[in-house]
Amino acid sequence: MLEVNGIHTYYGTSHILFGISFEVKEGEAVCLLGRNGAGKTTAFRSIIGLTPPKSGSIKFKGNEIIGKPPYRIARMGIGYVPDTRRIFPDLTVRQNILVARREKETAAWNLERIYSLFPKLKDLDTHMGNQLSGGEQQMLTVARTLMTNPELLLLDEPGEGLAPLVIQSMKEQLGEIKKLGVTMLICEHNVGLATALSDRGYVIDKGTIRYHGTIVELQKNEEVRKKYLMV
Ligand SMILES: Nc1ncnc2c1ncn2[C@@H]1O[C@H](COP(=O)(O)OP(=O)(O)O)[C@@H](O)[C@H]1O
Ligand SMILES: [Mg+2]
Repeated sequence: MLEVNGIHTYYGTSHILFGISFEVKEGEAVCLLGRNGAGKTTAFRSIIGLTPPKSGSIKFKGNEIIGKPPYRIARMGIGYVPDTRRIFPDLTVRQNILVARREKETAAWNLERIYSLFPKLKDLDTHMGNQLSGGEQQMLTVARTLMTNPELLLLDEPGEGLAPLVIQSMKEQLGEIKKLGVTMLICEHNVGLATALSDRGYVIDKGTIRYHGTIVELQKNEEVRKKYLMV
């Protein structure tokens, strides 16, 4: 579904990603693990088109997407949940969700399905965005992104800053979304939420992929975890 091949990404003259490659197959959940500053968010920004790579290739369902504007990439079927959450503080929960609604009435996701997946959001229906806790905001961001009916969901540190109990329920809900057939790429700086959900993982350090393997292999590989991850 996603093939990232040898991308080099810069912020101005700062060279951040040094020819990284990874892939996500349909139905898989894959994680990109690495310490803070390793280049995870930059990899996601490269995919969604916010910081397009200067060279390399990114194919989504076989089509090259480097050079396309972010809104076109999103419409092709990639949903991006940024680490900043960016919900609308002065809209209600319902409005925050409906703002992402597409024209297609036949779309798989609608308010009813979202509320059955996230009953907590249903309870908060009329609450304003700025009244929500961090965990509720994170749920709302995922819910809003699902309304765009993504085939591939990019989740940037979905558990960051959340209490352990909230992370647990986030993990369960993301697991449900995966079961519904949504392919996922999740990044995280520690071995936690993302690894629990993923089938395979890549380890990134200083803009270079240092390791990839199944989650079971990664969990057994103490050397890689000690060297490149916060464990
Ligand atoms: N807007 C920016 N301008 C310049 N450098 C940036 C910018 N955003 C991130 N960086 C740098 O790029 C590197 C990778 O950052 P990032 O992709 O955010 O890492 P991660 O998400 O893995 O923590 C870091 O050295 C960071 O300082
Ligand atoms: Mg980041």
